[in-house]
Amino acid sequence: MIPENTGPAAVIVLAAGAGTRMKSRTPKILHEIGGRSMVGHALLAARSVKPRQLAIVVRHERDLVARHVEELDPAALIVDQDDIPGTGRAVEVALQALDAEEDLTGTVVVTYGDVPLLSGQLLAELVATHEREANAVTVLTADLDDATGYGRILRGEDGTVTGIREHKDASDAERLIREVNSGIYAFDAAVLRDALAHVTTDNSQGEKYLTDVLGLARKAGGRVAAVVTADRWQVEGANDRVQLSALGAELNRRIVEAWMRAGVTVVDPATTWIDSSVTLDEDVRILPNTQLHGDTTVARDAVVGPDTTLTDVTIGEGAKVTRTHGSGAVIGAGAAVGPFTYLRPGTVLGDTGKIGAFYETKNVTIGRGSKLSHLGYAGDAEIGEDTNIGCGNITANYDGEKKHRTVIGSGVRTGSNTVFVAPVTVGDGAYSGAGAVIRKDVPAGALAVTVAAQRNAEGWVAANRPGTRSAELARAATTDSSSTPASTEEGK
Ligand code: UD1
Ligand code: CA
Repeated sequence: MIPENTGPAAVIVLAAGAGTRMKSRTPKILHEIGGRSMVGHALLAARSVKPRQLAIVVRHERDLVARHVEELDPAALIVDQDDIPGTGRAVEVALQALDAEEDLTGTVVVTYGDVPLLSGQLLAELVATHEREANAVTVLTADLDDATGYGRILRGEDGTVTGIREHKDASDAERLIREVNSGIYAFDAAVLRDALAHVTTDNSQGEKYLTDVLGLARKAGGRVAAVVTADRWQVEGANDRVQLSALGAELNRRIVEAWMRAGVTVVDPATTWIDSSVTLDEDVRILPNTQLHGDTTVARDAVVGPDTTLTDVTIGEGAKVTRTHGSGAVIGAGAAVGPFTYLRPGTVLGDTGKIGAFYETKNVTIGRGSKLSHLGYAGDAEIGEDTNIGCGNITANYDGEKKHRTVIGSGVRTGSNTVFVAPVTVGDGAYSGAGAVIRKDVPAGALAVTVAAQRNAEGWVAANRPGTRSAELARAATTDSSSTPASTEEGK
């Protein structure tokens, strides 16, 4: 029988810190990159190694963070850190809470809530090395050009890891060490529990340092080792908004590159932003200045952009979406949208349909092959198949208090500037004249016209706007022409 969880006994995500350098009313770890909060990225990486238990330690803005975590990962155990400061104390309270659920044995992984580029793959590699070498502690490290602020990895003459020295407690010689502690570790649960009981706050910051566990584990006869990563981005935390945007750009670069390797053409990676939750098929083409957010999915051969921002939009095979701002919409296969189109939630455009320039749509289902080509608003409506909505048509869906529905059939042709005063229904194959204001239902096959006959008041400009350029040009035009009719009455 294959056990359900093949991963470590637990992952503990540390997230109690204040993050004051963000200068934000939003807790640091709730700030987003790639369409997901930093702690969201951390929880995904933690879950991906399939731990039996997952705990997250909170304190600063506890309720906001806890609510967010409950939404993302309801199975995560939320643990409150007390007044004793330090990463060691954070892990200690988490261990106590986890032990209360089930006595932990085996591997316990510690990660941070503010290290968003850490991949599940690197975490799995850390766990695998730790277990293969039967280590007491395995720490993830990186060599940095500027190691300022980080804990430094101390190694013996033979290269074995002997401990970690915090920057503030380090000697000048130790500060020259470039190998740093990422703060991400795999521990043997029993070693961790025993060592933490002996960690004190006797250091320059008066905190219980988790890093002290390494030295104590070694003294107790355990093997301490490191996994060195060459990918510094995976261990980098965001402490301020400059680092946040740098991490966001790097995450995006990785996401865009991965899609290109998977068969997506991205014309300009530098101006293309794709959330980690987006899915793209092979042979999708993304043109410059395009942002794809949330649960957006794009099917094969579709072309998106340039200058397009889509959130939670589903795009069918071979569709073209140009200079469009959209959310919560579905675009059928072979359909065309844009340029300058605003798709609001509930828009469903059928296969081969079209929503053209300067159209706004909301809560509207448009059947296969139907076209709303230029200038208008369609909201709270249902449009059948192969219908052509003329230029400038509007569904007047709001009476000032309530919204009403417009139902338009299939094979309908509406004249320019038709206004549908909802609730109203237009039957299959019906037509409307230009400027029609549809207040009553139109039966199938009928022509609806509401426009009053046109009357031309001859000579009105000469009489009412004498001396103007219009009057002057009108006089020139009427004296030039020998066959000016005395009056006309048109349209019936
Ligand atoms: C810590 C490490 C340091 C390492 C660095 C990597 C210690 C003593 N030092 O330093 O060796 O190079 O991370 O970034 O561990 N946290 C809590 N509760 C606390 C304190 C911190 O949950 O009481 C959390 C924070 O929210 C954060 C993480 O632990 O996610 C690290 O805390 P931080 O204060 O940034 O640690 P550093 O002093 O930078
Ligand atoms: Ca830090």
